[in-house]
Amino acid sequence: MEKRMSVQNYCINAQQFDLNTLNKICELTDKIRKLSETEEGLTFLSSLLPNKRAMLYFKQPSTRTFLSFQNACYILGIKTSEIRDVTTSSEMKGESELDAVKTFSQYVDLVIMRHRRTDFIYEIADHLDQNIKIINGGSGNDQHPTQALLDFYTIYKYGLHGKKIGFVGDLKNGRTVRSLALLLNLIPDIELYFIAPESYQIKSDITNKLKVNYHMTEDFDGQLSELDVIYMTRLQSEYEVNNQSDLEFNHRDFDHTIYRISGNNLSKVKEDAIILHPLPRVTEIAPEVDKDKRAKYWEQVKNGMWTRVALISMMFNVDEKINEGPQYIKK
Ligand code: NCD
Repeated sequence: MEKRMSVQNYCINAQQFDLNTLNKICELTDKIRKLSETEEGLTFLSSLLPNKRAMLYFKQPSTRTFLSFQNACYILGIKTSEIRDVTTSSEMKGESELDAVKTFSQYVDLVIMRHRRTDFIYEIADHLDQNIKIINGGSGNDQHPTQALLDFYTIYKYGLHGKKIGFVGDLKNGRTVRSLALLLNLIPDIELYFIAPESYQIKSDITNKLKVNYHMTEDFDGQLSELDVIYMTRLQSEYEVNNQSDLEFNHRDFDHTIYRISGNNLSKVKEDAIILHPLPRVTEIAPEVDKDKRAKYWEQVKNGMWTRVALISMMFNVDEKINEGPQYIKK
């Protein structure tokens, strides 16, 4: 994996990003979004990588991230194939999963992967040929770097500096928060609030890496009116639960009525705050909040596709072409 140090070759975790690269991705995403407003711009984008092929290897449930990546590939003209159901594969004959993915990777230039095991993405980075690019689309309850990129971009659009950013919910298993906290850690004047019941708090492997000011609390109600960004997350029940009795046992100290935004507490939220959620939501945000101008989670989803276009174009070195393509930008 040492040979694969740069984001250019693989995007595996949030620690790989520096502020320069993040700024570059945000600016590139802005350009791509502008280009996409015209037919000519879209045609230009789809002419950039027509000879590249990507495999989406998604072994955990996914629809939004899967589609977001697939459409990001389409936008750049990249052809995609997918593996989601391994019962159709020789893995059923006893082949190791590493070998299976290595075999599939021979047909493509890029592997985009989601897997329940946190280490699998690192093993894959070691195992695949060095010329095959890799993107982590979610590695167990550890990291989700491209979700962090789109979240970072969304916050960047509304202003990053001097902001108080609150993460709410299951921060122990929530990989999006774990990755995003590491990206936000690159903005020195930001302040992070981790708001969760003690047994769902963010783990020290992340907080040990933080240089920015951060606070940990159980008190959502007390913090709500202080926050500029409210990042809600769902309980990640799939990581700790084998059956219904586990569910009841494990979740007895997670009070859904506390870690929730609804018509009842929305008035406490700052006028110019933004409310984010990586989705899917369960009970964390009541549907009536959707109509509020501070609810930005649908926009966040859309930003996901555009930031993935930006990342992939950077990995395949066509970002300069995009930067030089302003003749299509709508006046
Ligand atoms: C997130 C994930 O998969 O970690 N979803 C996503 O990628 N949009 C968040 C979640 O599942 O709670």
